This record gives sequence, C-alpha cells and structure tokens, in this order.
Amino acid sequence: MKGVSWGLIVGVTVGVVIGILLATVALFCNWLRKRNPQIGNSSSRRAYTVPIRTNGVDTCTVLSDSTTGQESPRIPEENSISLWIEGPKRKGVISVSGIPKYAYKDLQKATSNFTTLIGQGAFGPVYKAQMSTGEIVAVKVLATDSKQGEKEFQTEVLLLGRLHHRNLVNLVGYCAEKGQHMLIYVYMENGSLASHLYNEHKVPLSWDLRINIALDVARGLEYLHDGAIPSVVHRDIKSSNILLDRTMRARVADFGLSREEIVSRHAPIRGTFGYLDPEYVSSRSYTKKSDVYSFGVLLFELIAGRTPQQGLLEYVELAAINADGRGGWEEIADSRLEGSFDLEELNEVATLAYKSINRLSRRRPSMRDLVQALSNTIKERNYRTRRKRHLLPVAVVEESAKEDPLPYPQHSREESMDSLSDLTDV
Ligand SMILES: Nc1ncnc2c1ncn2[C@@H]1O[C@H](COP(=O)(O)OP(=O)(O)O)[C@@H](O)[C@H]1O
Ligand SMILES: [Mg+2]
Repeated sequence: MKGVSWGLIVGVTVGVVIGILLATVALFCNWLRKRNPQIGNSSSRRAYTVPIRTNGVDTCTVLSDSTTGQESPRIPEENSISLWIEGPKRKGVISVSGIPKYAYKDLQKATSNFTTLIGQGAFGPVYKAQMSTGEIVAVKVLATDSKQGEKEFQTEVLLLGRLHHRNLVNLVGYCAEKGQHMLIYVYMENGSLASHLYNEHKVPLSWDLRINIALDVARGLEYLHDGAIPSVVHRDIKSSNILLDRTMRARVADFGLSREEIVSRHAPIRGTFGYLDPEYVSSRSYTKKSDVYSFGVLLFELIAGRTPQQGLLEYVELAAINADGRGGWEEIADSRLEGSFDLEELNEVATLAYKSINRLSRRRPSMRDLVQALSNTIKERNYRTRRKRHLLPVAVVEESAKEDPLPYPQHSREESMDSLSDLTDV
C-alpha cells in the first residue's frame, strides 16, 4: 500500500511537471508567433521573388528568382515581371523612375503586329511604331530567352529613367507584359552613324558634319561621365550605337552594357571587339578612360571611314609612324571625302584621336577635354567661314556656296558656343 501510494505520488508529480513544461513551451511559441508572424511561414514567403542585387544607382531593386526553393509554388511569369518592375511593396505604381509603361496590345497595334522591322540588334529586333497620338517611336523587343537581354532591360529602364541629355537617345517608355520586355525610344529618323559611314547607297558624310557628330557624341559621353550623379560609363561606344535624328544631330544609344562598375577578374569581358581598351582587357577594370579609348576609335572611324574589323587600328599605327605631333594624318582620310576636308582640322582631330587610344589610360584626355578641343575646332572653323564671307564680295561667297553644297541642305544645326572660352590643350 505504502509502495503504491509512493508510486502514485511520483507518477502524478512527474506528469504535472511535464504538463507545466509543455504548456510553457506552447505559450512561448504562441507569444513568439504573435511577435513575428513571418516565423513558421517561410515556405509561402519564398514564393515571392527575392531581391538579390540592387542597382546601386537607384533605390529600385532588380532580382532573379533563383532563390525560390523546390517546395515553393512557382509564380506565373507575368507576376514575376510586375514584381520585378514595381517591387513587392510598390503595387499600383505603373512605371520605373517615372518612365511610362505601355500596354502590349497598344504596341502590337502601333507596329502593325510587329511587322515594321527597322533593325536587328544583338538582343532582338527593333520596330518602328506609330502610336495613337501620332508620335513615332522605336520599339526594341528583347529576346525573351536571353539572360543578357533581361539584364540589359533592367539596366536600361532604371538607368535611362534618370538620364536626360540632348545627345542621348531618350527612353520614352517600356513594356513588360506577356513575358515580353520592350524598350521604347525616341525614333531617330536617320538611323545609325555606321549606316552612313559604310552604306554605299547613302550620301557620304561631309567633313564638317563628321566633326559636328563627334562633338555631339563627346557631349553625350561627357554628360554620362561628369554630369550624371553618380557618373555612368557606357561600355559600348561604337558607330552602330550612335544614332542620328532628322537634322543629323547625333545621340548616344544603347545603355545595355552601362552599369555601375563591379570589378571582378572573373567577370566576362564586355564590349565590342576593336573598341576595347587594352588596359581594361588586362586589368578587367573598366573606367571612364575606357570609354575615351572607344571614342578615340570612333574618331578614327569618322576620319578614315573604316571599321576596326577592317583593320582600322593597324592602318592608324602605320600612319602614326609618319605623323609628327600635329601633321601627316591626311593619308588615312576617307576616300569618300574626295579630299574635301580642312587639312589642319583633320590633323587636329586625328591627334586627339591618337591621344585617346593611348595604351596607358592616364595619358588619355578626359571627355571634358575632348569636348573643349572639338568645340574649339568648330569655333575656329566658324570664325574662318565668317571671316571669308566678310572679306569676299557677296557674289563670290554665293558662288563658292554653290560649289560646295551641303549633303543635307535641310539640316539646320546650331552649334552652341557656350562656356568654351577656357580651352585646354589636350
Ligand atoms: N531609336 C531608334 N530609332 C531608329 N532606329 C533605331 C533606333 N534604335 C535602334 N534602331 C535601329 O535598329 C538597329 C539595331 O539596334 P540595336 O538593337 O541597338 O542593336 P545594335 O546596337 O546591336 O545594332 C540599329 O542599328 C538602328 O538601325
Ligand atoms: Mg545598339
């Protein structure tokens, strides 16, 4: 009896202690759950796309769905895109950085069901579109299966949303719908600079126009380097990324490769063969001076009418042997110019170009220096023209104008002579 009662007492006590312990644990768990409702709900949270990288220049996040676990229900593509664009907390916001979002069906209509092809880029086709407002735009459709295209899309939308300059191709909208990514740009009537330099069926660009174009590009790049906050490097300056508007004003296009720099020895080399800064190739560190190098190659393209793929730089190096500081570059002049260029100007511009492609980046001028030097060249040209007009009798001036007609008489370019009094020698 005595043994039984002891056993009972011990049993009941142990049971009560365990019961109290269990109740305490349950109460504690409940309290924790109330404090942080996300605990215990992790698998459903993982159904959302998680930002894994921020742009660094904007507060908008860009992301990939690579962290979604196997147990997580996959979210539909369309949802993922809208989260990608708007961010999970920005429901109802229909644009990135104030850039209007266009409806797929409107673009389908504006491009006559995507039949108005004007170009085929590395990341997909480009169509001409007439919007219901009458506005004409260029619609760049990114290939959906292209990872690079996806990156290019997010970069361009976020980046261009905050960049505005008259020498940059402005982004006027985007579309992210039905698994499609599209960028909508101002339409550039005269297409790419490359098409004018290398298409036999186009009127050759005059020397003066080439220098005006060079200054436009330099100004666009100067803005990216020194005007934009934080600054931006382009990473793919080449003649096919320079577009010309109705009046042949040049604008820098394609910011797909522009990105805040992440230096990594293992990162793949980006850019276009022939325009790549050798220092970047060896160090993998892309700087503003790497853009300057590509710009130097572009200047030589304008002078020689030859692509890097046609041995432009070898040709330049051969000519450099005979060029002495400021002269001797005329032998590389584009034959399509038919000798119609100012010798002094050509040598000035070639000297600038040669400094820009110096193998040592620290010896290259900055884009600001280049803008000032090219502006100076144009300023002097205008001064010479005015003086010539002033000195010659009116009849002779009219006659000489007839002899040298502008290939694009409708172009009424006005070069601003703003803030160019302090010209540096580069
Ligand atoms: N905004 C635009 N206006 C007019 N034509 C354009 C515009 N954007 C691109 N294009 C045309 O489409 C072509 C392909 O453009 P893009 O996709 O940038 O490829 P890439 O730079 O590789 O040539 C260009 O060479 C140009 O002729
Ligand atoms: Mg391009």
